[in-house]
Amino acid sequence: MVIFGITGDLTARLLFPALYNLAHDHYVGEQIAIAGFALGDLTEQKLRDSLTESLHHQFGQQIDPELVKKLVSRVRFVPSDFESAEGWQKLHDILSDFDRDYKTAGNYLFYLATAPDFFLPVVQRLAHEGLLNAGNGQWRRVIIEKPFGHDLESAHQLSRELLKVARQDQIYLIDHYLGKETVQNIMVFRFANGMFEPIWNRRYVDHVQITVAESLGVEHRGRYYDHTGALRDMIPNHLAQLLALTAMEPPSSFSANALQNEQVKVLESVPPIDPEDCEWCVVRGQYGRGMIDHQPVPGYHEEEYVDPNSQTETYVALKFMVDTWRWAGVPFYLRTGKRLGKRYTEIAIRFRNPPLSLFRRSGATLPQPNHLVHAIQPQENISVEFVGKVPGPVLETRHVNMHFDYSDYFGVANRTGYETLLYDAMIGDASLFKRADMIEAGWAIVQPILNAWGANRGGELHEYPAGSDGPEASDKLLRHDRRSWRAL
Ligand code: BG6
Repeated sequence: MVIFGITGDLTARLLFPALYNLAHDHYVGEQIAIAGFALGDLTEQKLRDSLTESLHHQFGQQIDPELVKKLVSRVRFVPSDFESAEGWQKLHDILSDFDRDYKTAGNYLFYLATAPDFFLPVVQRLAHEGLLNAGNGQWRRVIIEKPFGHDLESAHQLSRELLKVARQDQIYLIDHYLGKETVQNIMVFRFANGMFEPIWNRRYVDHVQITVAESLGVEHRGRYYDHTGALRDMIPNHLAQLLALTAMEPPSSFSANALQNEQVKVLESVPPIDPEDCEWCVVRGQYGRGMIDHQPVPGYHEEEYVDPNSQTETYVALKFMVDTWRWAGVPFYLRTGKRLGKRYTEIAIRFRNPPLSLFRRSGATLPQPNHLVHAIQPQENISVEFVGKVPGPVLETRHVNMHFDYSDYFGVANRTGYETLLYDAMIGDASLFKRADMIEAGWAIVQPILNAWGANRGGELHEYPAGSDGPEASDKLLRHDRRSWRAL
């Protein structure tokens, strides 16, 4: 595995712990070695030391020190910019050493943990160096993580250029939400059970709410975030991914292509939001000062690297329709924001009310809506919310809950979410990766909003206090349809 940008945060926080977990669970064995390529004044030894330290820090007492030593001893480093001929020569030499010492057989996984500006130049250079030409029985793959473009046109342009130098089946585009067990389980839940699919449609479903709430602010990423905003950062990728998995048709098989075809179809069925509607069916907000966990936190304008007059949204709520036979007329409401009251991601399916309120006359409270909720994180569970009878001679009803918690059945594993993705990329299974057309379809659903905002035609930017549920205007969005958000 070759990691471009190995000295960055992604490697220490996620990639290396994932490799450690894979080695620990014997998914990768003796034939793995890691080369890092990055600009910086680190020596190979210092890089190894810092990777060791961060693994110990993350796994604490549970760490297997021998395994860490072994993994880290297989790290080689090219301290170079990505243009230097000398750097690339060194990489070639390291890869030959790996092939000889660890029998890696010329099979290479290239991971671009770099700033997005380097994606294309590095892949072009890989091609130029002959490193994407796999010999007989060998494989060569490239993993790229978001941001993939900053709008529809740039995403399209990037994928066109990449495909000039690499084959589609060599490019693995990561959406790290697909590494989450609870997200993968949406497909199993829907397609490995007979009882949910029959009611998973417009006849029984009133609407769907997808919430990705974060309590963190922009941290040290102000520079990136201030030019990006919540819409670009989250909707075309992570929330579109959750929407696609929720709304897709059963695929003809569990192959990568069949799965991706169905997901692309969903996104392509989302009609473009009319610029006229952007003012009311897309709500944007920005956090001001507030309290999180009883601690005062600064407003967005006071964050590091953020323009004090910034108009960038840190919250967005919107309504999409999915014009398919299955979902016609069923709204999908999406919301995501930073510095909300808590970190919580869920997909809530709200079912229609029963046709008659039979218990109304007997004085029982009106039926509460039925929900089926996939809690994605940090809680990992699935629950069905329905109405039950309160025991006693007087007919009284109450909202109750049927609950499946992952930890009750499967224990709590120390996972980063990257284990499955790295493993799948190594074995050549692209079913949990995105195809470029799916990424473009994600951009296509937000492009009309970007256009409207660019032309100053969106609604105003609402301030919300950090620690709240977001701007009040987002409640209006649902009230307009006589609905309301679920409490966070
Ligand atoms: C990233 C965004 O893609 O996803 C971040 O750039 C966001 O802004 C993060 O915080 C959320 O990921 P998770 O796994 O914490 O929900």
